Amino acid sequence: MSETPDSRPTDRGRTVHGEPANAGHRVLAPDDAEVEAYLEQALHAPPPLRVEAEAAERPDTVAILDFGSQFAQLIARRVRELNVYSELLPHDTPMAELDRRGVKAVILSGGPSSVYDVDAPRADPALWSGRIPVLGICYGLQLMAHALGGEVVPSTRREYGPATVSMTEPDGLFAGIDREQPVWMSHGDSILRPPEGFRATAQTDSTPYAGLADPSRNLYGIQFHPEVVHTPVGREVLRNFIVGIAGVRPNWTASNLVETTVAEVRERVGSGHVICALSGGVDSAVAATLVHRSIGDQLTCIYVDHGLMRKRESELLRVTFERDLGMNLVMVDARERFLKRLAGVDDPEEKRRIIGDEFIRVFEEEATKLGQIDFLVQGTLYPDVIESTTAETKTAQKIKTHHNVGGLPADLRFQLIEPLRYLFKDEVRRVGVELGLPEPMVQRQPFPGPGLAIRIIGEVTAERLETLREADWIVIDEIKAAGLYRSLWQSFAILTPVRSVGVMGDGRTYANVVAIRAVTSDDGMTADWARLPYEVLAKMSSRIVNEVPGVNRVVYDISSKPPATIEWE
Ligand code: XMP
Repeated sequence: MSETPDSRPTDRGRTVHGEPANAGHRVLAPDDAEVEAYLEQALHAPPPLRVEAEAAERPDTVAILDFGSQFAQLIARRVRELNVYSELLPHDTPMAELDRRGVKAVILSGGPSSVYDVDAPRADPALWSGRIPVLGICYGLQLMAHALGGEVVPSTRREYGPATVSMTEPDGLFAGIDREQPVWMSHGDSILRPPEGFRATAQTDSTPYAGLADPSRNLYGIQFHPEVVHTPVGREVLRNFIVGIAGVRPNWTASNLVETTVAEVRERVGSGHVICALSGGVDSAVAATLVHRSIGDQLTCIYVDHGLMRKRESELLRVTFERDLGMNLVMVDARERFLKRLAGVDDPEEKRRIIGDEFIRVFEEEATKLGQIDFLVQGTLYPDVIESTTAETKTAQKIKTHHNVGGLPADLRFQLIEPLRYLFKDEVRRVGVELGLPEPMVQRQPFPGPGLAIRIIGEVTAERLETLREADWIVIDEIKAAGLYRSLWQSFAILTPVRSVGVMGDGRTYANVVAIRAVTSDDGMTADWARLPYEVLAKMSSRIVNEVPGVNRVVYDISSKPPATIEWE
């Protein structure tokens, strides 16, 4: 390519639909969302109506008010781990809205601001009334202290990182916890004088007010972060506040969730017809299974076998959904037509475009056979819902709702059913287990929508697919055998376009080079190459060379992202 490095963002920074992506790199929907988006487009409908069904009976709820902390989502997850339902809401959510949501306790997150900033985020003053217990964390504590007449000042010593806290009050928030505790601190401002009615409950070397409480008003605060792993007793502190002090019932369990969702979907769908695209990913699998439990044969699932899946994946899907669960599954064998269109194509973006386009065509053909469709199932997760203002997810949302067909009558609109919209990914997995879905499906690492096509560098042919599928199978097999599968974000093989000389038996060979990629990551946005044990690498290498015809050399990718990406393309 002739471009200079400066012009590369325009070349690579595009979504799967050819729209410019932000941040100079391609922005991707997760595998399920991508396939779901193809189905939406194939249905030629205007953007679906997003209707948030009113929950029949809300679980006891803890609200986390978001003051901009990078840990706000983590607090919500930690609360969920206590089997308590939590919602992340804007910092200025009015008390009336908290009441409407049946909130039983409120946690104020930390945040980067100082209470003295002109545009410092504030909370509804009604929060301080004591009607609902409130726990302020870091900025949340400072805000509470400031709002109630205490004095907050910029610290002479900024505290960041590990610290030791001395919990001077053995009850309430710190019940059952040893007095001296390692915690994680991250704050500039400190409390100089607590508001009237508050007493100090914890201290560190640099602040006498690392914890404050006014139990008569149900107000509590801590300067340290209980949500991060560096605060080992954080979970106990949160549990003491939520269950002990606020009396919230820990009734958010996978089985309760299945039960309520099944009832809600049944009520909403009535006698309507529902369609769902299966991608092989966990979200669409769990969403479909939940909906199927509700409405049985009124649901039709479509799975397009594009021939770019990994070994045995399509078969597992068929056996699970058709045989074991008895679902209406339209399984389209489109392997030939995808291969035909991919013949002679080297360019990865062109491959993606072709695969997306072909997906839409197949879905179109199948959807027309189905007649009236009233609802579409999507595996939208809670982070998609709460982060819908960030650039990354906006793009993902755009992929999901990308339509270009004005002028259709409004009654053609179908509604979305999003049975996972209140769940984090780990909760989806738990629900999947509860529903009896097979482990390889529930624990599957992320896999790109265009599948193995972007892991074959250069032209995709039946033969090269077979080579990669076999090599990839060995990588996964050995990673699983070593007990590493779940600790890695992704682990897979790549078929490079390189051939190299080798020697096998008495003869020279000239055969393919396979690369192995294994990365750790939290969200796929950044990643590091996994320090796999040499023995595991050695085993994979020798098995691939011995068991996969046409491969005589194996290399391990030791690049992090950035500057590399996870996939090679
Ligand atoms: P990169 O290679 O950009 O990938 O570091 C980040 C994450 O996105 C996945 N990925 C895709 N997912 N369609 C998808 O649904 C795609 O075209 C696609 N390309 C990459 C990749 O597997 C990694 O988890």
